[in-house]
Amino acid sequence: MNSADKTEADFLEEVLDFAESLSIDAGKRALEMRNAGLLTQDYKQSVELVTAADLEVSQMIENGIKERYPSHAFFTEESEGAADRRPDLSEPTWIIDPIDGTVGYARGHFQFCISIAFCLEGKIQVGVVYCPALDELFTATKGNGAFLNGKPIRVSATKHLENSLVATGFPHGWAGIDRVIKRLGEVRNRCRDVRRSGSAAFDLVWVACGRIDAYYEEGTKAWDICAGKLIAIEAGANHGFFDDNLKGELSEIRGYAILAANPSVFPELLEIIDIRSVKE
Ligand code: IPD
Ligand code: CA
Ligand code: CA
Repeated sequence: MNSADKTEADFLEEVLDFAESLSIDAGKRALEMRNAGLLTQDYKQSVELVTAADLEVSQMIENGIKERYPSHAFFTEESEGAADRRPDLSEPTWIIDPIDGTVGYARGHFQFCISIAFCLEGKIQVGVVYCPALDELFTATKGNGAFLNGKPIRVSATKHLENSLVATGFPHGWAGIDRVIKRLGEVRNRCRDVRRSGSAAFDLVWVACGRIDAYYEEGTKAWDICAGKLIAIEAGANHGFFDDNLKGELSEIRGYAILAANPSVFPELLEIIDIRSVKE
């Protein structure tokens, strides 16, 4: 390793430490607000739930980053106009979902998390997913493996799709629902069972630690998956997309139509869910 590499590695290690404590503080605040009954609720585009905690935690993470790294760029779900923005990753960029799994979070479920990814030179380099209700912190830096509360994790060793647990998610609205349900039926017929946690980042880190064998979803966004994707890849998962449509996103951080799975079940599952062969 030359000295320039060492400087970058040191910097990424520092970013990881910072993202870890930011996500833990944010997660603790989310739990605290829920326990105190402080979750006033609203809806974006009349279908997507947003609570007071989504907004407060988002602000908390953003303020923390601005103070520590004032020149860095952001792409966060709750900031104004985020849905239409397309980051070009020309600067160091943070991609954040302050609470992934809001619907379950607001109902007292444990399947929700804080998802923080950091991109440098156009690549996702750091991923942190903190699940406050379980006090589980999933982390990865590119090329260095994945960890759960500091211990290395690996994807499952399940060899065949017929023995697999496969997680998925559904869109907030109804567009494309027939295709989604048809695909789900085909998957259900070929695997052991399906799961729906209500949080994409949560599903990805469960692939990473082998609690489930695969996760796929059509309507996800960059902030749902960037951190969890790196963690799953670093834990040995294969990942890909079951549609050609980039929807204007850079391929490094595209969110739409992701599949992540252990390498044994990945190819068969990809064939089944391919959007071009599952017509409405
Ligand atoms: C949602 C969750 C859910 C997925 C949706 C996402 P949110 O994020 O990840 O599992 O099915 O596509 O929008 O709204 O809870 O941050
Ligand atoms: Ca989300
Ligand atoms: Ca969210």
